[in-house]
Formats: sequence, structure tokens, C-alpha cells
Amino acid sequence: MISVPATETIIEVTYLIATALFILSLKWLSSPTTARRGVFAGEIGMLLAIVGTLLHHGIVEYKWILIALVLGSIIGVPLGEVAMTAVPQRTALSHAFGALCVTLVGTAEFYLRAPGVPPFMMAVLSMEVILGSLTFTGSLMAAGKLQEILPQRPITYKGQNFVNLGLLGVAVVVAGVLVAHPEKMQLFPVIVGIPLVFGVMMIIPIGGADMPTVISLLNSYAGLSAAAMGFVLQSKLLIIAGALDGASGFILSVNMSKAMNRSFSNVLFGAFGQEQTSTAAGSKEARPVRSATPEEAAAILAAANKVVIVPGYGMAVAQAQHKVRELYDALTKRGIDVKFGIHPVAGRMPGHMNVLLAEADIPYDKLLDMDEINGEFPQTDVALVIGANDVTNPAARTDPSSPIFGMPILDVDKARTVMVIKRSMGAGFAGIENPLYYMDKTLMLFGDAKNFVGSIVRELAGGHG
Ligand code: TAP
Repeated sequence: MISVPATETIIEVTYLIATALFILSLKWLSSPTTARRGVFAGEIGMLLAIVGTLLHHGIVEYKWILIALVLGSIIGVPLGEVAMTAVPQRTALSHAFGALCVTLVGTAEFYLRAPGVPPFMMAVLSMEVILGSLTFTGSLMAAGKLQEILPQRPITYKGQNFVNLGLLGVAVVVAGVLVAHPEKMQLFPVIVGIPLVFGVMMIIPIGGADMPTVISLLNSYAGLSAAAMGFVLQSKLLIIAGALDGASGFILSVNMSKAMNRSFSNVLFGAFGQEQTSTAAGSKEARPVRSATPEEAAAILAAANKVVIVPGYGMAVAQAQHKVRELYDALTKRGIDVKFGIHPVAGRMPGHMNVLLAEADIPYDKLLDMDEINGEFPQTDVALVIGANDVTNPAARTDPSSPIFGMPILDVDKARTVMVIKRSMGAGFAGIENPLYYMDKTLMLFGDAKNFVGSIVRELAGGHG
């Protein structure tokens, strides 16, 4: 039998290795070439963290832990198998579960320790349950909006921000009273209940298009609440892992907001996407566009020296990445210079396009970020847009009245010819019309991305087959 101090040392070392792996995981996840290693390091780190925790001498029996492990696995395995396009809402659900767990642990710890909870402990406990509760309902709402179970359109009313911030203010004041008077135990449900309502109210005015940013912000809140729980449970591992989660979620939210040229407050309080349904219909039916067949598109591509492919959400929906790889092969075989222009918020989650194109084994050095590729469009013969819309919308540069005015875009309209594969004249996620489609140099290639790219590849290969 191992003695208690020896077990403690094993736990500490296990936690130390887990912490190092979490940090390395984040570092490796920041590049496509090392991302797989990053995921693996994170998984091993989490496994070590769980094993270390299970060794804890405070655990007197494993029955309930085993039941929870089985239940968690039953829920977790199917969650891991959702389609790539459903990953944002899946992630939101994971945050909801984590936040619920943090809130339940915080509540249990309060009632175990009350009424004599020391002020510092009460302060971190309050932070834990306030952030945990609002993240729980907020994440459920975000998942519901992304899954389209709930309306995506922002729901607003007069004085909404005032009501929301007022609610949160009441919870913070009550937490302050509890820090000063922990014996007022009857107040505790207030700092759980109000944030639960706040989580719902906070998401109602935010449009579906902003959900990914909101999810990464909720990720940050979940991390901070876990760090607070680390102080309550005196777990250095939780404090570090929570702080890493909190900081990385925050940095990601800031980067995403920047890529959309939006401020944080505008994402949270701006009710972006409100006009989604009305602008989508608009006057576009009356305006003519030029369209082309796969044969014509293949002929134009074959005559080009330089082609830039711009993928977007539609490529993900159609799962066209493997066909795009075939197109890349067919064009490069003909000596055509082919590159990919990747917008930081193309698709529905950070790195969405990089992951899909990496899955299809497109060489990483052919994927160029927006800043790198934009200078090359004027020398590009054909910009081939595959299922992207908002990230190519020139109104972001030219129309101050556009809701996306100021958002940096891929300047495909500067190429000599633009070809756009999409199924209809339908709007993108921001719900707005794209003037690119009406330009003289633009050819619309109407169809599903996978089928259309497949047809072009067949044409390039010499016709049918
Ligand atoms: P979108 O603007 O959403 O446009 C995608 C286009 O793909 C649609 O217009 C749609 O047109 C087309 N499409 C859908 N299914 C298709 C299929 N099977 N085959 C061919 N085309 C298909 O996408 P984007 O340009 O990638 O821009 C991303 C948007 O999401 C931006 O507004 C961005 O701000 C927002 N957003 C992204 C993120 C992250 S992190 N990526 C975060 C927050 C917000 P049809 O219906 O006509 O086919």
C-alpha cells in the first residue's frame, strides 16, 4: 500500500505534467502543422488530470464517480461524432456542461462550509457560481440559436442593456453582502438564480452571426469560473487550467471581433444581424447576373496562369474539400499557379477552412492568410470563390451603410475574372446582398460546391467519365 505522502507526491507530479501538456497543447494548436500533436497533448494532459484526481485520499468510494464516468461517456461519445459544421454548437454544449458542473460544485462547497465562510473564500465562491450559472444558460441559448432550435434573429426591446446590466449588478451586490455576512445563507440562491436568468437575457439580443464570438467569450467565462473553483478547492491544476482557458478564450474572441471589424461591446450589445430576414429578400431579383456552365468554367480556368481559390462556409456544407483537392491537382498539373486565400472568419469557426483543406492534404504553404494574399489579387487571372459570400463582399470596403462596412475582406473583386460557386443568389450568414455578383467580371456558377467542382474536374480531365 502506498503511503499518503507518497500518493500526494504522485498527484503533484501528475498535475505538473498535465499543466505542462496543457500549455504545450495550446502552443501546438496554433499551427496546422502541429495541431494534431496539440490535440493529443491536451488529451493526455486531461487524462493525467483525471487520474491524479482519482488518486486523491479524500475519495472514500468510487461508486458515484464510476456512475458519472459512464454517464459522461454515454453523452460524450456521440457528441464527439457530430458533423464538422455542427462543432460550434457542440462546443457551446460542452461549455454548458462544464459551467453547470462548476456551479453545482460551488453550491455544494458553500453549503458544506456555511455559515462560517471566510471573506476571500466567499468572494471566489461567488465569482465561481455567478460566472458558472450565466455561462450555463448562455451556452445553452447559444447552442440553441446555432442549431436553429431558437430564432437566430436578435430580439431587442427598449432599455434592454439597462435591464441586463441591472440584473447582473443585483447579483454582484448580493455577493458583496454575502462576503460581509456569510451567515445570511438564504441569499445564496440569489447569486445562482439571477445569473441563470442573465445568461438567457444576455444571448437574446445577439444575432446568430455573432454566436461563434459569443461562444469563445463564454469559453473564457467557463475558464475563469473553473479558476475560481480552483481557489475554492485549493487545486493549483484547476487554477492554471482555468486561467489558460479563460485567457485563450478571451484572446480568440478579441481576434474574431477584429477580423469582423467589430468591437466587443458591439458584438455583445449591438444586436447585429437584426435586418437579416428583410435584407435577404431585397431588390436583387431585378438585377441581371452572368452565369456559366462547368464546361465554360473549366475552359476559363485552363487558360489562366494564376488562380486563387477562396473557400467559405458553403465548401464545408457541401464537404467539397476533396473535390477541391482534385481541382488543385488538375490545375497545377497544367502548370497553373494555384493558391488559396483564407479569411480568418470564413466558415463558422476559427481555422474552419484550414482544417478542411488540411484534411484533403492541400499543402500548407499554398494556404495564404488574408493579408498575404490580398496583394496578389490584381495579378490573379481567376479568383474562384467556393461557397464563400460575406468574406468576399466589397460592400465592406465601399458602402458605409452596410452592416459589415469596415470588415476586412478578401479582395477577390480585384482579380481579372471572378467565378463564384453557390447554389442560388441567397445571402451569407450576415444576411446581406453581395454586389460582387453583379460585377461585369463576375460569373456565377450555380450549383452545389461538391458537384460543381467535380464537374469542372471532369471537364479538365477531358470530358466525361
Ligand atoms: P457565408 O457568408 O455564410 O456564405 C456562405 C455561402 O455558401 C452562402 O451564401 C451559400 O449560398 C453558400 N452555400 C451554402 N451551402 C452551399 C453548398 N452546398 N454549395 C455551394 N454553396 C453553398 O460564409 P463565409 O463567406 O465563409 O463567411 C462566414 C460568415 O460567418 C461571416 O459573416 C462571418 O463573420 C461569420 N462568422 C464566422 C466566424 C468564424 S470564426 N468563422 C465567427 C463568427 C461569425 P447559397 O445558399 O446560395 O448556396
